[in-house]
Amino acid sequence: MASLPTGKQSLVRTVSTVPFYVSRKQCNVSLSNKKTGNQPMSKQRPETKAIRLQTPKTGEKEHATPIFLTSSFTYESAEDMAEAFADDSLDVNIYSRFSNPTVDEFIQKIAALEEAEDGVATGTGMAAIFSTFMTFLKKDDHIISASAVFGSTHTILTKYLPKWGIEYSYFNMNQPESIEALIKPNTKLLYLETPSNPGLDIIDIEFVTAVCKKHNILFVVDNCFATPAVQQPIKFGADIVLHSATKFIDGQGRVLGGVIVGKKELIKELYLFIRNTGPSLSPFNAWILSKSLETLHIRMDKHADSALKIATALQNHPKISWVKYPFLETHPQYTIAKKQMSNGGGIVTFEVKGGIDGGRKFLNALQMLSMTNNLGDSRSIASHPASTTHSKLSEEERREVGITPGLIRISVGLEHPDDILADIQQALEKS
Ligand SMILES: Cc1ncc(COP(=O)(O)O)c(C=O)c1O
Repeated sequence: MASLPTGKQSLVRTVSTVPFYVSRKQCNVSLSNKKTGNQPMSKQRPETKAIRLQTPKTGEKEHATPIFLTSSFTYESAEDMAEAFADDSLDVNIYSRFSNPTVDEFIQKIAALEEAEDGVATGTGMAAIFSTFMTFLKKDDHIISASAVFGSTHTILTKYLPKWGIEYSYFNMNQPESIEALIKPNTKLLYLETPSNPGLDIIDIEFVTAVCKKHNILFVVDNCFATPAVQQPIKFGADIVLHSATKFIDGQGRVLGGVIVGKKELIKELYLFIRNTGPSLSPFNAWILSKSLETLHIRMDKHADSALKIATALQNHPKISWVKYPFLETHPQYTIAKKQMSNGGGIVTFEVKGGIDGGRKFLNALQMLSMTNNLGDSRSIASHPASTTHSKLSEEERREVGITPGLIRISVGLEHPDDILADIQQALEKS
């Protein structure tokens, strides 16, 4: 083989001396940091773990975590390769649809923040939700879900699951006591978002846990609006927590991703479903998301401080009928929010007077806030669900899931809160 120029040769030498055989389990075990002194990693606070958990350093001694942007992994011998393929549960990287060190780093960080045993990542939040339903439900099973769930989740529940013989029932987030009456002998899973999108309904996770435990039902929480920096549903008894990582976890509107965490035995089933059917997270997106976690706590604090300031300032505005924010005392589930969330999160909703038309006028009058359907970005975003994401529902259907005609959802960004408020106030004057 022709020899490489000196620089390249040394690159090849350094890299090839490193045993690059980081497996799912090895990655988990070695997610540690020698520079943290005597304090064991398990004792560190979540903010520290979100920054310091990292795959082992390569021979290049990089500071920032590297990206393992590779579709597959190699073996030292034919025997090693045969062994890797012989056992599905063996902790060896084979192919990035199955596992990848960068993806594992992201998973292990989320698992640490959610206080979960293990996790698995997906290409989008919807892939996380769909994979969970497909793994734990089968023909003739029954699922109970909150009616106030994200639009595409509603589509899976009402259009796809029945096609495969899985029936669903909806309950109202504001009436948790109605859940028990919906339980049937074939009920296998209970699903909800808290706070919900876009209505910001909140439910007592401990209360729902008790109902699920009594009837041996798997309890799944979409924790996308709160993030693990604000709420850890597993601490209150949930079995599985999932996220659209596309939102606050990314935090800058760049990549799509999803993640599911829970007990090891549940995650093993999910892992095998995802490994075989393919909704896996790309290592590039995992790298972005893992780096984003380094700033998650500080960002969520800032989103929440600004959101509370804006929600408070908008109360009693003459162009608004009501304002909703989990940490406003006027929120119907304020006490529950205070019990299970460390702050109110980054989303504020309000009702502009003047119905659908008033909502449209408000959006058109905005000068700085972005008009887009995403949320959880450093840039503040305004959306009007009745004329966009939920326009295909009847007014009655919208009302049932808390979407009133003039409902505006503000994803409060990281700009100066006075600038965000000033734009909202000037747009209200014109709507
Ligand atoms: C609460 C909630 N869950 C799930 C999703 C779906 O996530 P993704 O767009 O990453 O598939 C969204 C998207 O907005 C959401 O708001």
